[in-house]
Amino acid sequence: MKLWGGRFQKDENKLMEDFNSSLPFDKRLYKQDIIGSLAHVEMLNKSGILTDEEKSQIIGGLSSILEDIEAGKLLIEGNYEDIHSFMEVNLIERIGEVGKKLHTSRSRNDQVAVDMRLFAKENGQMLAEMMGELMETTKTLADNNCHIMPGYTHLQRAQVVTFKQHMMAYYSMFRRDKQRLENAVELMDESPLGCGALAGTTHSIDRSYTAEKLGFKKPVDNFMDGVSDRDYLLEMLSAFSIIMMHLSRLSEELIIWSSQEFRFVQIDDAYATGSSIMPQKKNPDAAELIRGKTGRVYGALMGMLTVMKGIPLAYNKDMQEDKQQYFDALDTVISCISIMNEMLKTLKVNADVLRGAVKAGFLNATEVADYLVTKGVAFRDAHKIVGEIVLLCESKGVAIEDLSLEELNGVSPNFTDDIYDFIEYEKVFEKGIKKELL
Ligand code: ARG
Repeated sequence: MKLWGGRFQKDENKLMEDFNSSLPFDKRLYKQDIIGSLAHVEMLNKSGILTDEEKSQIIGGLSSILEDIEAGKLLIEGNYEDIHSFMEVNLIERIGEVGKKLHTSRSRNDQVAVDMRLFAKENGQMLAEMMGELMETTKTLADNNCHIMPGYTHLQRAQVVTFKQHMMAYYSMFRRDKQRLENAVELMDESPLGCGALAGTTHSIDRSYTAEKLGFKKPVDNFMDGVSDRDYLLEMLSAFSIIMMHLSRLSEELIIWSSQEFRFVQIDDAYATGSSIMPQKKNPDAAELIRGKTGRVYGALMGMLTVMKGIPLAYNKDMQEDKQQYFDALDTVISCISIMNEMLKTLKVNADVLRGAVKAGFLNATEVADYLVTKGVAFRDAHKIVGEIVLLCESKGVAIEDLSLEELNGVSPNFTDDIYDFIEYEKVFEKGIKKELL
């Protein structure tokens, strides 16, 4: 079952064997492992290291392993050290002695590095597409809800915005998230296959050939770097963490907005849950779980940064710890993007409540001050005047536009009839948004 053992005089301790094995989790890389091996075999043949016959036997064996795994006929389990050992032992069982030639001029160090890069590239491309879909959903929700609403700073009502504008802020964040994934893919797009254990090989292999066959832009420049860096996983984990941070902020807003205190939105029943004791409850669990799972993805990033920070070049077994954290973060971010996408598709926005909140929040107060400035009052004086007007409104329980001209003139003589038009909420918003692009 092992790929090594010649220099050992004792069997490996069982506890050690289990401790060392990555098969239970790196089996997820079976396809990348076979694809990498297929390219390697083609290259060995082209470089005169394997005969045509040997090549076709090994390719036949690897292809049949892939077929059997996908058909559920071959289970990836057993007492193997990792997915690479599993593959090689299975290959030799299938095609005999010639299978032992597969690993010529290759190490598991460049093998695992190429597997992980292929996997991460694929993940990056898929997630970028998912972010594109989330952008579309966000834009549709925004376009369908151009109603005015309060914009907040310090979670206190501040100025008039629209629901559309608020959602398009997330659209911009998601656009950058998508770009971050694409940038990460672009940077990792170099093949480590052929780096060997750390110092290449004496065989005359062709790294450019395997790089091209596997869809990489080029081979890596430096062997030691190629087998020992995992910065591309760190970049992916950073991109995941930033995506989760954005999703978590939006989740927080959906949680607040769907509360009885706000009632700005209704989350669809399909993405909420109830209480086992309080019959009236409808809880925004999907949003809460996204917020909670964000911590888990940050944890993977910190975990991986910490794994990498102290290991000397080149490969060290510490690096096997990249997989579980990365896989877990990947699965988490995929499920969170999917559920947010569905939640937004089915979200109901309460336009009347939004408008009511605008009116109750003195959200045209800044514009009343701007109005006074147009009448020649200095802004700082205008600010003070409007503060007094707000106090007056609060004592009467009305909005600024509900005061009569006499009442306004009681505070400042600079108001004339045109004030009402100037501070109309939709107009205030229109004037502000003109300078914005989305
Ligand atoms: N399972 C190992 C990993 O994930 C594969 C590489 C093993 N290399 C070695 N020299 N033991 O990192």
